[in-house]
Amino acid sequence: MTEIRMRVNGVVESLDVEPWVSLLDALRDRLGLMGPKKGCDQGACGACTVIAGGVRINACLALAVQYAGKEITTIEGIAQDGDLHPLQAAFVRHDGFQCGYCTSGQICSAVAMLAEHAAGMPSAVTGHPRDAAAAAELSDEEIRERMSGNLCRCGAYNGIVDAIKDVAG
Ligand code: FES
Repeated sequence: MTEIRMRVNGVVESLDVEPWVSLLDALRDRLGLMGPKKGCDQGACGACTVIAGGVRINACLALAVQYAGKEITTIEGIAQDGDLHPLQAAFVRHDGFQCGYCTSGQICSAVAMLAEHAAGMPSAVTGHPRDAAAAAELSDEEIRERMSGNLCRCGAYNGIVDAIKDVAG
């Protein structure tokens, strides 16, 4: 057992974990955060997506001990002062889900993706750096490519893209 501390949704948590425990299992089983979902448990579906130090990761592929001292945000920490995050509200407005199992991962991924976009990351479609005008526009194709690590078995992709475009402006 190793004692680690990490800041989860703004709260410093201390937990004892074996070195083989995934971040996903630590969040769910040790901290009781059931928002991050276990779908495939092998990095293929994105249901477990959380934000670690501003970067979206598949928590099922990460060891908890790797994230000692890090800042983790799960869907439970996305809402702001009791109000839905704009992306959460947009998912509701645009029916960006059906069963909802993938939704926490979709929203965490989208929050981080919009931050990447605002920071002017190269196009996920062309790989080319984007000028300011291109950076301001987030095409459907760009959104679908950037969100391709998050699967929705209900096929709510059109609503998901519309919700993200709505918030991206
Ligand atoms: Fe982690 Fe599917 S549960 S990617």
